[in-house]
Amino acid sequence: MPEQLTPLPAAFAEFSPLRLEEPLARWTTLRVGGPAEWFFEPRRPEDLAALLTALHKAQIPFRLLGGGANVLAPDAGVRGAVIHTGALRRIFLEGTALRCWPGATIQQTVRAAAGNGLHGLELLMGVPGHIGGALAMNAGSADFGIWDVVEEVTVWEPEGPWKARARADFDPQYRNGNLGQAVSLEILLRLEKSTKVEVKITQEALLRKKNQTQPVTLFSAGCAFKNPLGESAGRLLDQAGMKGVSVGRASVSTLHANFVVTEPGATSADVLTLLEKMASAVLEYAGITLERELVVW
Ligand code: EPU
Repeated sequence: MPEQLTPLPAAFAEFSPLRLEEPLARWTTLRVGGPAEWFFEPRRPEDLAALLTALHKAQIPFRLLGGGANVLAPDAGVRGAVIHTGALRRIFLEGTALRCWPGATIQQTVRAAAGNGLHGLELLMGVPGHIGGALAMNAGSADFGIWDVVEEVTVWEPEGPWKARARADFDPQYRNGNLGQAVSLEILLRLEKSTKVEVKITQEALLRKKNQTQPVTLFSAGCAFKNPLGESAGRLLDQAGMKGVSVGRASVSTLHANFVVTEPGATSADVLTLLEKMASAVLEYAGITLERELVVW
């Protein structure tokens, strides 16, 4: 168990619901990870901002958790606060744009786009996670990231009043939203008018491809490593003979070599050791150092 930070200042009583020692394995798609000392689920963006300000002022460490689709939480758990965006799920239609709260799931947003005949999010079909997490990671496909369709983001920042900022104020990179200490409170996605049928046809074709090439029915956190420039980490790992290699209850998918999949009983340590083996195998095979996409807490 992590050492307890005691006591939680009384002022935090207003930020319910609050759970103590909440197992992170329940909230991450790899299904591993020990307890979060304090686990908050704010219900409105203004509550999230107030909570962040209070934690910052009290110098309590905090982490944001969306769909847990790219996070490896340690077996010993984490000290301080974890703020889960699961209750911040609203999406508003504004002409050809969608205004999303950070806990809207990527799939809820993709469906809202299709339902309103809006084109631009198809490449996120089948991607797990929340929009806030997608922004932090610049989630997408090999050559598309959600930041390609962001128009404006309202962010909380430690020292400033929270405000809407234009896309040009940010510098997202491949699989890295580069948000620094900023936390997104509301995201405006600019899409293009199409038809419901066309958007649906494209989405379904992409989903079929994903189902054929990725282990979508197993517990995983998506691609574990970023693609090196002009290369595919999956192909390199495959050529290095990593498919099916396992450590404890974690193994490299036999379908796509850049996916680590877990079985019940897996630990964060199993996953970490396997990640090290994968990176070493590619270094030895191709002389290429893979960079982790998976965020290790
Ligand atoms: N390949 C192999 N063996 C494998 C896996 C892939 O030979 O085990 C080959 C494929 O046959 C293909 C090439 O490598 O020729 C690229 O594979 P794929 O089309 O599956 O794409 P990827 O580069 O491995 C990227 C993203 C995925 C995204 C897919 C589809 C990264 C790190 N990965 O994968 O994103 O779903 O494109 O758009 O950018 C993620 O980031 O978590 C993720 C899953």
